Amino acid sequence: MEPTGQKGLERALSQKAIQMGNSTPCKTWVLGFFCGVCITYLFLVAVAPLRTTEVGLVYSRTAGAVSQNSSFWTSGISRSGIYSSITEKVDISEDHSVGLEPSDEERVMMLYNAWALLNGDDGHQFAGADVPDAPHFENCSLNAQMYKQFDSHGENGSYLPWTLWRGLLGMELLHPSSSKDPEKTHYHHEAKFGDAYPPWVVGSDEDNFPLTRLVQRDIWVRQHPKNCNDPNLRFLLADWERLPGFGIGAQLAGMSGLLAIAINEKRILVTDYYNRADHGGCQGSSRSHWSCYFFAETSTECQKRAFSLMKSQEAWQKGIITVKDNYTSKEIWAGKVPRAWGRPWNYLQPTTEVDGSLLRSHRKMDRRWWRAQAIRYLMRFKSEYMCHLLNVARHKAFGLQAAKMVITSLSAAWPKVAINKSEAGMERLVWSIHNPWIPRPLLSMHVRMGDKACEMKVVGFEHYMQLADRIRKHFPDLNSIWLSTEMQEVIDKTRRYPSWTFYYTNVTRQEGNMTMATYEATLGRKTSTNYPLVNFVMATEADFFIGALGSTWCYLIDGMRNTAGKVMAGYLSVNRDRFW
Ligand SMILES: *[C@@H]1O[C@H](CO)[C@@H](O)[C@H](O)[C@H]1NC(C)=O
Ligand SMILES: *[C@@H]1O[C@H](CO)[C@@H](O)[C@H](O)[C@H]1NC(C)=O
Ligand SMILES: *[C@@H]1O[C@H](CO)[C@@H](O)[C@H](O)[C@H]1NC(C)=O
Ligand SMILES: *[C@@H]1O[C@H](CO)[C@@H](O)[C@H](O)[C@H]1NC(C)=O
Ligand SMILES: *[C@@H]1O[C@H](CO)[C@@H](O)[C@H](O)[C@H]1NC(C)=O
Ligand SMILES: *[C@@H]1O[C@H](CO)[C@@H](O)[C@H](O)[C@H]1NC(C)=O
Ligand SMILES: *[C@@H]1O[C@H](CO)[C@@H](O)[C@H](O)[C@H]1NC(C)=O
Repeated sequence: MEPTGQKGLERALSQKAIQMGNSTPCKTWVLGFFCGVCITYLFLVAVAPLRTTEVGLVYSRTAGAVSQNSSFWTSGISRSGIYSSITEKVDISEDHSVGLEPSDEERVMMLYNAWALLNGDDGHQFAGADVPDAPHFENCSLNAQMYKQFDSHGENGSYLPWTLWRGLLGMELLHPSSSKDPEKTHYHHEAKFGDAYPPWVVGSDEDNFPLTRLVQRDIWVRQHPKNCNDPNLRFLLADWERLPGFGIGAQLAGMSGLLAIAINEKRILVTDYYNRADHGGCQGSSRSHWSCYFFAETSTECQKRAFSLMKSQEAWQKGIITVKDNYTSKEIWAGKVPRAWGRPWNYLQPTTEVDGSLLRSHRKMDRRWWRAQAIRYLMRFKSEYMCHLLNVARHKAFGLQAAKMVITSLSAAWPKVAINKSEAGMERLVWSIHNPWIPRPLLSMHVRMGDKACEMKVVGFEHYMQLADRIRKHFPDLNSIWLSTEMQEVIDKTRRYPSWTFYYTNVTRQEGNMTMATYEATLGRKTSTNYPLVNFVMATEADFFIGALGSTWCYLIDGMRNTAGKVMAGYLSVNRDRFW
C-alpha cells in the first residue's frame, strides 16, 4: 500500500531527526527554519500548535515570529547544515487524540519545511510522491546532466551537440543513443541542423549584444576540439589571480583578458588553480577549480593534454604551451580585443544611461563587448553545486511566498492524501524547461561603497532608490528589490522605503572602513565566494538592474545581462567606468 503523504513526510522528517541527534529519536526535534530576513517583514505568521490525527505529532512553536541565524550561508548546503540554523523547536508528543485539521497557514509552513528538506543532499528519497514540486527550485541533477550533454561532442564527434529543439525536448527525442526507432531518426535529420546555436544564449539577437550567438558558438568550438591530442593544437594554461587584493570581479576580468589572448593566438585556454573554490563545498575534481561553480572552459581531455604538455621541454620550446607568465599584465588587462568577428561593438545598442542621458559611445566599447562575451562563455552552465546554492537562496527569500501560492491550488486533503503528479510529456519535456519562479518583476540592486571610494565616485543609497522609483514610474507593477551589498549601513536604510519589498541575505556585513580583503577574510573563503556568486546570478536573472558601472562587479553583471537577452531592460547606472 502506498503511504499517505503525511506518513511519507513524517518518515522523512524522522529520518532527519535521527541523523541529527545521534541518539535514539528524541522527544524534541530541532528544526531549522531558515527563513529569509525580509520574509519576516512579510509573514509574521504565528503558527498555532498543530495536531494531526494520524501520526500524533504536535508541532509547537517556541516563538511567534520566524527568526534567523546568519550561519546559513556557510553551512546551508552540507548534509546536516540545514539544521545548523536552529531557530525553532518542534515537540513530538505521543498524543493520539483526535486533532484538528491543519489550517492553511500550518500547511504553508509544512510545505515550506518539506521543501527545505528536499533541498538537502539526501532529499531525493521522498521526492516523488508526497510533496508538490517547488516552483522556485531547479532540478539540479537533471540540469547538470543536460548541460553535460550540451557541453560534449555527439557520439562520433561529427556534429555540435545542440539542436533546434530546446532542452530536454531535444535531448530526449534526438539523443543518438535512443534513436533506434525510425521515427526518431527522422527527427534527427529534421531538427539537428548543423547551424544550431548554443543553448545558453536566450532571447532574440536584438535582445543581446551584437553577434552574441555566433561568438559564443565559435568560442565553444575553439575550446572544444574533437581531438585534444592533435599535435597542431596549442594551449594557454593559467591559474586564476590569487593575490588577496583581487576580488572575484577582478579575477574574472583577468581571465577574460587571457581568453582574448588565447583566441588571438589560436590557443586553447585551460584554467587551473582557483583559490576561491579551495574549500570544503567543492568536492573531488572540482576542488580549487572553476568547475566547482560553472562548467569548465574546456573538455577534460584538453585539460589533461595541457597538463602533460607542461612536462615537455619540447612543447615549451616550440611555444605549444604558454602560461600566464609569458604575458605582461598589460597584455592581460588591456590587451587587444579579438577581431575575429570584425568590430561588432560599433553596433552596441545604447541602452545604458549615465547622468541622465543614453551613452552612445565611449573609448572602451570593444572591451565592454568582449568582457560580456567572455563572462557569458565562462558562466554558460551552472554546476550542480552552484544550482544548489541558488535553490537554497531562493528558498530562503521566496520560499514562503511560493508555498502560499502552491497551497492555494492544492487539494485541502494534503498532506493527508498524497498528491497526484502528472508525468506526461508536457510536464516532463516542455514545461520542465522554464526558469525557477521568482517574484517578478524583480529589480536587482548592487550597492557598493566601502573601499571602492578610491576607484570611483561613490554614490549614496538614496540615489539608487531614486533610480528605482524612476523605473517603477514606468513599470508600476515593480515592487521587489533583490539587494546585494556588503554594507550594514545600506541594510539599515531599507527601513526608510516601506513601499518596496527588499530581499537580501543575512551575512555579516562590512562596518566602517574595513577593506574588502579584510572583510572577506572575516567571512571565510566559502561564504565570501558563494554569497557574491549567488547575488551575481540573481542579478543576471532579475528583470532590472541598478548598479555602479564604475565597479568591476557591476560591469560584469551588465555584461552577463547583455548576453542573456536583457539588453532592452536598459541600465541605469549611478556613475560611469573610470576608463570611459
Ligand atoms: C547562530 O549560529 C552560530 C554558529 O552556528 C551559533 O553559535 C549561534 O548560537 C546561533 N545563534 C542563534 C541565535 O541561534
Ligand atoms: C542576522 O543574523 C544575526 C546573527 O548573526 C542576527 O543577530 C541578526 O538579527 C540577523 N539580522 C536580521 C535582520 O534578522
Ligand atoms: C530531477 O530529475 C530526475 C530525472 O528526471 C528525477 O528522477 C528526480 O526525481 C527529479 N528531482 C526532483 C526533486 O524533482
Ligand atoms: C557520425 O554519425 C553520423 C550520423 O549518425 C553518420 O552519418 C556519420 O557517418 C558518422 N561519422 C563517422 C566518422 O562515424
Ligand atoms: C614562455 O615562457 C617560458 C619560460 O619563461 C619560455 O621558456 C617560453 O619560451 C615562453 N614561450 C613563449 C611562446 O614565449
Ligand atoms: C491520478 O492520476 C491518474 C492518471 O491521470 C488517475 O488515473 C488517478 O485516478 C489519479 N488519482 C487520484 C487520486 O487523483
Ligand atoms: C578606520 O577606522 C578606524 C576606527 O574606526 C580608524 O582608527 C582608522 O584610522 C581608519 N582607517 C582609515 C584608513 O580610514
